[in-house]
Amino acid sequence: MEVITVSSFKGGTAKTSTTLNLGAALVKLHKKKVLLIDFDAQANLTTGLGYDPDTNDSLAPVLQGKKKIEDVILTTSLPGLSLIPADTWLERIEVTEALASDRYSHERLRELLKSLTNYDVVLIDTPPSLCWLTESALIASQYALVAATPEFYSVKGLERLSQFMNNISERHSLQVLGVILSFWNPRGQSNDTFLEVIESTFPGKILSSKVRRDLEVAKASVHGKPILQTAPKSRAAEDYASAAKELLSRLRKGSKSHV
Ligand SMILES: Nc1ncnc2c1ncn2[C@@H]1O[C@H](COP(=O)(O)OP(=O)(O)OP(=O)(O)O)[C@@H](O)[C@H]1O
Ligand SMILES: [Mg+2]
Repeated sequence: MEVITVSSFKGGTAKTSTTLNLGAALVKLHKKKVLLIDFDAQANLTTGLGYDPDTNDSLAPVLQGKKKIEDVILTTSLPGLSLIPADTWLERIEVTEALASDRYSHERLRELLKSLTNYDVVLIDTPPSLCWLTESALIASQYALVAATPEFYSVKGLERLSQFMNNISERHSLQVLGVILSFWNPRGQSNDTFLEVIESTFPGKILSSKVRRDLEVAKASVHGKPILQTAPKSRAAEDYASAAKELLSRLRKGSKSHV
């Protein structure tokens, strides 16, 4: 079972869309069994899959030791794709109840995921900050998938994220699987500059499959479904399919260089 956290320091880099649509592509095109974890109190992944965040338990009671992880896993419209939803309880969960007094609280998720056996891939969606949730997710993962957009502020935040992940990888076996660029404009005038900066922070990690800007991505989330179900012939569906293939081949090779 491969655990991959999708993260970025900046908001709006398509982390949630990437988690959802890559997960769906791995299920639909590669027959993988995939668990998506919404680890962001904004709960966009949860609503993006058609669930109301206030009606189901998130990982919050599981992390507090009140529920079993199996009991908070939901099925989705795509057989083989499961979801642990988010709710607002995840916000500042580290300072509440049993977690508040636990010095090693950020290692709990890692322990919880060890009990899961029926999944090939677990993808964790995180908030746009280097908070307890993001740190816990990265500690629980073998791999990080960095989400970025070809914009100055997105690229600038990568250096901070890289340092954050370096600190974690000193104690845990975290590696960067790739950097996935969304909102890509194949004719963008500053593309080469952005790619160079990313390359200098994460050498050799940029995926050659880039996700182009496509209104179908937002439309799919309104329907509560992955784009492969709502618009399988769209540009973005094509891009997510090729990114999924590229990631699988990287997973098979095992990313050699550490963060
Ligand atoms: N390739 C794309 N083309 C057009 N719109 C997109 C694309 N990818 C994502 N979007 C839209 O951009 C917005 C932000 O995407 P998303 O929610 O996935 O980003 P995020 O990084 O998870 O944001 P946050 O940091 O707030 O969690 C959403 O409305 C989404 O539907
Ligand atoms: Mg998000």
